[in-house]
Amino acid sequence: MRFKIAFIGFGVVGQGLAEILVDKEEELKEIYGFEYEVVAISDIQKGSIYLPDGLDMRKVLSMVSSGESLDGYPRGETGWSPLKTITKSNADVIIEVTYTDMETGGPGLEHVKAALDAGKHVVSTNKGPVATRGKELVELAGKKGVRFMFEGTVLSGTPAINFAKYTLAGCEIKEIKGIMNGTTNYILSQMEEGMEYQDALTKAQELGYAEADPAGDVEGIDAQGKVQILSNMVMGASLKLHDVEREGITQITLDDVKKAKEEGMRWKLVGSTKKTEGGVKAKVSPEKLPLSHPLANVMGPTNALTFSTDLLGDVTVIGPGAGKKETGFSLLVDLLNLNSTTG
Ligand code: HSE
Repeated sequence: MRFKIAFIGFGVVGQGLAEILVDKEEELKEIYGFEYEVVAISDIQKGSIYLPDGLDMRKVLSMVSSGESLDGYPRGETGWSPLKTITKSNADVIIEVTYTDMETGGPGLEHVKAALDAGKHVVSTNKGPVATRGKELVELAGKKGVRFMFEGTVLSGTPAINFAKYTLAGCEIKEIKGIMNGTTNYILSQMEEGMEYQDALTKAQELGYAEADPAGDVEGIDAQGKVQILSNMVMGASLKLHDVEREGITQITLDDVKKAKEEGMRWKLVGSTKKTEGGVKAKVSPEKLPLSHPLANVMGPTNALTFSTDLLGDVTVIGPGAGKKETGFSLLVDLLNLNSTTG
């Protein structure tokens, strides 16, 4: 199938997908029968451009990397807002990659709703709309005969949501537990090597793991949103963000990390969601794990999730939880799944 794609937001993640689409264009066509044109991009900082016949994405990427506004693209219409791009362009798939607001859903929520209402598929890594209104949006997509896909909201491209929903289909998932934030896991790993907390955080920011406001990482809010998404979209709960108990890593000292090491233990920021008789219980908190525990050996910015199931017992996935290419890939895999189900 030949998709007409519009990007709403064109930051690191959007550019990550665009680079993969350009680099793998032939391979995607030959192996998966996936063909595309990017017809529009609308980004608050990078400008906006709409060309119904399709943009030259090599040119777009080179303009963006040299800091040129997309408004200067030689053809097409410029100045379109995200909502105009969603509703008035000829795109049939909207890639929603604007910033995350886990409390209200942010502008992303309005974008996703408008796209689904207009009968367009949405593929997104934005946690806000999924955390706040995920079930409703999936229902709306169903009514409109389109898909709302969001694999990259948890663990970036490492299989998480699609893994639970499709690969483990038929299993009852009783609990999901894991390391869902790369920044905090990196900081704790560096502290074990003797680095001070603040220096490790600065390094995590330099390496691009941390959120724009790293409080979201170290206070556990990023992991809290991911636990909420897993609880609601995989475990069938209807939790609000604040129903997920939360404690971050800011109270853990270098001394605590050293002491744990002497005891053969390791501090990890663990997120979990579990079915209980009283409903789904979810939390994010630091846990001191024995080194024999599988999650204790997941180091650096790597993430991991253990799914406890009735038919398979425990199944663990380990992989990157952030990054340009890694999160770009999560959008690609959703597009390929869309292609195989609608093509
Ligand atoms: N800041 C996040 C992390 C990025 O460190 O895991 C992905 O949500």
